[in-house]
Amino acid sequence: MEHPAALSTSSNLPIGVFDSGVGGLTVARAIATRLPQESILYFGDTLRCPYGPRSLDEVRRFAVEISRWLVARQVKLIVIACNSATAAGLETVQRLVSVPVIGVIEPGARAAVQATTARRVGVIGTVATIESGAYTRAIRALDAGITVFSAATPRFVEIVEQGLRLDKSPLEDIMARAADIYIRPAFAQIARDYLKPLKRCHIDTLVLGCTHYPLLTPLIKSIMGPNVTIISSAEETASDVAETLTRRRQLNTSGASPHYAFVTTSADTSEFINLGEMIFRCPLIDVSLVNIATLSTGEG
Ligand code: DGL
Repeated sequence: MEHPAALSTSSNLPIGVFDSGVGGLTVARAIATRLPQESILYFGDTLRCPYGPRSLDEVRRFAVEISRWLVARQVKLIVIACNSATAAGLETVQRLVSVPVIGVIEPGARAAVQATTARRVGVIGTVATIESGAYTRAIRALDAGITVFSAATPRFVEIVEQGLRLDKSPLEDIMARAADIYIRPAFAQIARDYLKPLKRCHIDTLVLGCTHYPLLTPLIKSIMGPNVTIISSAEETASDVAETLTRRRQLNTSGASPHYAFVTTSADTSEFINLGEMIFRCPLIDVSLVNIATLSTGEG
């Protein structure tokens, strides 16, 4: 087990956040908004993205490697900002490292349980997340009377990334103008096909079980209609981070400005920076490359 810095000196350390790529920046943004004094070290495993079509064993191995790398850089807490990696590896990582590890599934499940009145909840995510059954277990552990309907919607990741590449505006503008960015006929048809079975199930709450999907909220809302509450786990996860750091007396109270550092695993960092700036909503200045060959050794 890795040894974290002593609690008394660790409050200035960054929060480690990781995802298969840029999607987890939706969670990093929520954390930065909720905890503006906290530094963040974000790891985007862009070279091995997407995780969704991979086996849970392989994704678990990636999650362990990245978590160990983050602990070696002395993060005070790890957020697995990827549903596929949370489904595959949360428990294993929690056993292996001694800093707190927070995933995105339990916070999203909790928000859905609180929101549903019909007790019929839909979940969409990658193949890895949906096939793991992790959301169904998490929701039903909180309320066994809820019926969960799940659907894998893997092409939504590609639609998000294509949508961002097609538009260079700040994210707020993209969201405001989503009708002409994401709701292109081809994208809308894919979304309608994916969501049709869930619409037939009369759900009143839909969990966006992939950290890319909040960027598709306008498109998904337009298809599901006004009576379906859309749940993104980003803000709930940020609340869990705030609560954990508060209870552990590890909030950064130094008064120093936060530092945001980003690492990616693909040699061409420009794509990560271009898409990442739109999602994180500020310039990505400190961006470096990590060679995945060195990950298992903790170097790099
Ligand atoms: N961000 C990942 C998740 O939340 C989806 C992208 C991928 O398949 O790697 O599951």
